[in-house]
Amino acid sequence: MNCGSVGVFDSGFGGLSILSALSDLVPKEDLIYFGDTQRYPYGPRPQEDVREFASQISWFLVKEYDVKMVVVACNTASAAALEHLRESIPVPVIGVIDAGVRAAQSVTVNRSIGVMATVGTVASGAYQRCFSRDDLLVIYQSCPGLVEFVERGETYSEEVLILLRALLEPIIRSRVDTVLLACTHYPFLSRAISDVVGRDVCLVSSAEETAFEVSTMLGGESRECDRDGTGSIRYVSTGDSLAFSQLGSQLSGLAIESVRHVDVEYLVANYRKV
Ligand code: DGL
Repeated sequence: MNCGSVGVFDSGFGGLSILSALSDLVPKEDLIYFGDTQRYPYGPRPQEDVREFASQISWFLVKEYDVKMVVVACNTASAAALEHLRESIPVPVIGVIDAGVRAAQSVTVNRSIGVMATVGTVASGAYQRCFSRDDLLVIYQSCPGLVEFVERGETYSEEVLILLRALLEPIIRSRVDTVLLACTHYPFLSRAISDVVGRDVCLVSSAEETAFEVSTMLGGESRECDRDGTGSIRYVSTGDSLAFSQLGSQLSGLAIESVRHVDVEYLVANYRKV
């Protein structure tokens, strides 16, 4: 039994969709969520920058919270940095890409899948490498602008629908039966996405599969916490703490009461290229 914390991070609020699944599936674990809201969005940034941010945050979680595992609850950071983190961080590191691919492949019936992701994730080719079955038609669509709506707390509006209709036209035209939400922010837009692609298209996220992977890995390595009762959830953000607790609670339904603020300058000064 190991009651160290599990660290979870994202560029902002998106990873809260993974955190919710973790709090359901591994409720005894202490969880630390880090939202890099000062530096979001990661999607349009060069991969080297995202890799550097992911490394700073992972080292911060290891050194300051002694985490026993890091969950990269961000597709863009998983695509840019997972391999690098696994080589450099001294605890297991789990990403979200394999989990999303598994979930989508197990759901599709007509073997046609649309993948919605950030510009950085699509350009990295990470999903293209991961979809291994050659009997699948996979349409990749980068979706610039959607993350910004979520970070503003705007998850359903005429503007969101207009942008979605324009972005998702190729996916709709391809008659996919499954859409993989390959950015952890997008589950917060599910209602709007579903209205645009149609109710008969199944929306899939990596949240539950990732939580299963965490649970399996903790169990397999005898790292799980077997305390009576539930673990705690703590929050850290590079942005405004009050805004994080208000908007984060509104989006995720989690009760985010207190948030530690950490300056980006502090991260850079202490955890740059460790
Ligand atoms: N939530 C992230 C992802 O899964 C990052 C979005 C962004 O910051 O652009 O890709």
